[in-house]
Amino acid sequence: MKVSGSFLSSKNIPQDLEKLNDTDIDYIHVDVMDGKFVKNKTMPFSEMRHISEYTSKRLDVHLMVKEPSKYIPMYAELNCEYITFHIESVEDIKKNIDMVKSYSIKCGIAISPDTKISTLIPYLPDIDLILVMSVVPGKGGQSFIEETTNRINEIRDLINEYNLDIVINVDGGINDDTKDKCFGADILTAGSYIVKSSNFQEKISSLR
Ligand code: DX5
Ligand code: ZN
Repeated sequence: MKVSGSFLSSKNIPQDLEKLNDTDIDYIHVDVMDGKFVKNKTMPFSEMRHISEYTSKRLDVHLMVKEPSKYIPMYAELNCEYITFHIESVEDIKKNIDMVKSYSIKCGIAISPDTKISTLIPYLPDIDLILVMSVVPGKGGQSFIEETTNRINEIRDLINEYNLDIVINVDGGINDDTKDKCFGADILTAGSYIVKSSNFQEKISSLR
């Protein structure tokens, strides 16, 4: 199992990024909120761009924004493995998939807990990752929604049915207990479980 670390709940982001960089974590998960798609707002890109000064890990960018096309070109400048935006965002999904790929960055689509899995079907041939939200997007530290287990299964079945090479990433409320409810996932994204602990590596290892 791969692990992606979210610093959304960090009290000291530079310090926590350096600590994460000293672990074997696979990716740094960058939560971006615009105050429109979700209520909260994260720091502007002018500040966010500095994260690469504290970590050499590849980034897994999660855009929780209404208009991904405004953010994709900026984040594409960073060391991204994936840029993921929501299927519920207001813009043309296919256009934004093409925009991410035009930078030779892998493209993900995030799906919120209340959105039907079948909405993903038209885009499956064009994407590299599905970010299954196991909490309502918008803030860290929430509890894992149990129904996610069924949703992961349903998505895994779809990927197999269409014989596609798509990675499943599960985001929200992940810890050493809920990880067992994510059978079928390839990546687990965890925030508070890691950054609120005194031993980052121990928590990361417990998720593998
Ligand atoms: C929620 C974010 C998650 C969140 C994960 O909207 O997308 O990435 O930071 O944090 P925890 O692990 O605390 O739920
Ligand atoms: Zn996230």
